[in-house]
Amino acid sequence: MVKDLSIQLFGLTLRNPVIAASGTFGFGTGFDFDVNAIGGIALKGTTAQPRGGNPCPRVADCTAGMLNAVGLENPGIDALVREKVPALREVYSGVVLANIGGFSAEEYAHCCEKADACEGIDIIELNISCPNVHAGGAVLGSDADATAAVVRAARKATRRKPLVVKLSPNVTDIAAIGQVCEREGADGLTVANTFLGMRIDLKTGKPVLSNTFGGFSGPAIFPLALRCVWQVSHACGIPVIGCGGVTRAQDVVEMQLAGAAAVQVGAANLRDPQACLTIINEL
Ligand SMILES: Cc1cc2nc3c(=O)[nH]c(=O)nc-3n(C[C@H](O)[C@H](O)[C@H](O)COP(=O)(O)O)c2cc1C
Repeated sequence: MVKDLSIQLFGLTLRNPVIAASGTFGFGTGFDFDVNAIGGIALKGTTAQPRGGNPCPRVADCTAGMLNAVGLENPGIDALVREKVPALREVYSGVVLANIGGFSAEEYAHCCEKADACEGIDIIELNISCPNVHAGGAVLGSDADATAAVVRAARKATRRKPLVVKLSPNVTDIAAIGQVCEREGADGLTVANTFLGMRIDLKTGKPVLSNTFGGFSGPAIFPLALRCVWQVSHACGIPVIGCGGVTRAQDVVEMQLAGAAAVQVGAANLRDPQACLTIINEL
């Protein structure tokens, strides 16, 4: 018997609570299996202008996880709306999240306005783990005032669609940042993004990644992400989407028990593109 795993989120129906996390499932096309079984797909992070990303090496393997410093390589918001979303909609009828990156409140607002007007996008997910050029490169989401300014601008520009803010876990008090987002009108929170890390090459004595630091993800971060989900969902009154280190069905259930309404799967997709399907079948 096939069990009904569907959930309601922001008035939308997801076939199941599993969402492919941004940056780990491309733009949802080109897979040699039917992606319709997946509850939601978060698209690769998109900025106002196309970006080539960081020079290589930009990924590094680690015990029970991986580091990445891809640097938001993407075709830009216009290409997302004109080409990527229509192409995905030819093969996928589930819930689509546009993941928006940026370097200023104005850039986030510009991208949100375009995503808000795009038919094929259901949810706008703001990635606030980007460097803030106005604050000399500090990460936007680690500063309460910068977070408030970005969410306020994005909220103004997003009239039709649910706005979800994806929090950085690289902060002293993630629940406090979540509360700032809620106050500024966010409809939900994705908890969380990657943890800042690095590797050093023993042969050269130099950092492995060209960017020196990168975001650590994969099964090793599961207990850290779970703790963040618990803290944020107990401090905030809006739905939380859990994300970090999920590789199996029981991780999804643990995230739900910690307060998550839905759960994203990231690095596991890079090891096996069918990871979400396996998890959904196990559920
Ligand atoms: C190669 C790679 C690229 C990523 N790109 C993005 C991105 O563009 N936007 C974003 O919000 N998160 C991005 N992430 C973070 C993931 O969406 C996810 O939050 C993180 O990897 C933690 O989940 P996991 O442990 O299941 O991978 C990326 C992660 C990886 C591994």
